[in-house]
Amino acid sequence: MSRTIAALYRFLYAVFLSRLPEPAAVALGQNLLRLLPLDRLSTFRLDDPRLAITLGGVRLANPVILAAMYYDPTILGRAMGLGFGAVTAKSITIQARPGHPRPNLVRTSTDAGPGLVNCNGFQNPGLDRFRASVASLSHRVPLIVSVAGETIGDYVKLVRELGPLGELVEFNISSPNTRLVYEWSRKPGELATLLREVRRATEKPLIVKLSPDFAETNEREIIPAALDAGVRIVNYGNTRKVTNRRLSQGEGGLSGPDIFPTTLENLRRTRRVFGRDVEIIATGGVDSSDKAVRLFDEGATAVGYFTGFVTRGPILARLILERLVASR
Ligand SMILES: Cc1cc2nc3c(=O)[nH]c(=O)nc-3n(C[C@H](O)[C@H](O)[C@H](O)COP(=O)(O)O)c2cc1C
Repeated sequence: MSRTIAALYRFLYAVFLSRLPEPAAVALGQNLLRLLPLDRLSTFRLDDPRLAITLGGVRLANPVILAAMYYDPTILGRAMGLGFGAVTAKSITIQARPGHPRPNLVRTSTDAGPGLVNCNGFQNPGLDRFRASVASLSHRVPLIVSVAGETIGDYVKLVRELGPLGELVEFNISSPNTRLVYEWSRKPGELATLLREVRRATEKPLIVKLSPDFAETNEREIIPAALDAGVRIVNYGNTRKVTNRRLSQGEGGLSGPDIFPTTLENLRRTRRVFGRDVEIIATGGVDSSDKAVRLFDEGATAVGYFTGFVTRGPILARLILERLVASR
């Protein structure tokens, strides 16, 4: 059944969704997600006690995570019923941000498969409105709240105020679309202070989301500083910075299957160097159960994806979970 749904979605994506102008496709996709109660169907989930893991001490029914992109509580609520073991909300900033002007999202298509490049620029409702909107969200699965700031004070405030709303807290130092967030990886000294301050700001398990563009600095300075500060979960990682003349900013973050080899390599290296000291959410390019299994075989604690949710549809989590159950 799930294979048939997957094949139908691929067909729908190839002949219809991928041919719509990107803004229309995004609007249609998000409206359908809001309107259709897909989360009420058991088709998209697979409950099996053998799939359960703990992440930062929090129990997840399975190790598949929806990566940060959505902030609308209706969509987050639906996603919680679509097979994921946890759902990550979009990175929230203190003030609302309109994001970068359009075009801020374009498709890519290479031999590896369909992907995206975005320069979304943290379009989000800001701390106060987000907090009010998700306060009544019922957590069918753990919610990971994500924060992004320009100063240490921003992160501390965001983590303090949003921490109580999630089971885990992710802090984003890696989105390539705004200079100030991406720049954190270029100043590891200050980042070490940020890690310590953020650690003090919440008792919730913390996840640091890394950029695949700074593999050496991550390994040499940022992950050791995270461990020193008591931050034990690494999400590796965010999109890769690329130029793209179709985008309003002339550059953006590449996601989807073209970044999968980098995700695999960063996971391998991080496991080799840090052993079991870190828990690793491997994110970047997962759009099939084969790719997810390769990441688990290399020691991922959990896998995350966003682009695969768009290009392969909401059935992808179930396909991954079926493979995992078959291999246990
Ligand atoms: C349109 C768009 C918006 C995103 N917004 C965020 C964000 O707010 N915070 C964040 O940490 N990552 C964000 N990401 C990155 C994803 O969470 C993910 O790390 C990245 O896309 C790589 O995974 P994928 O190849 O499975 O998409 C965004 C990605 C896209 C495509």
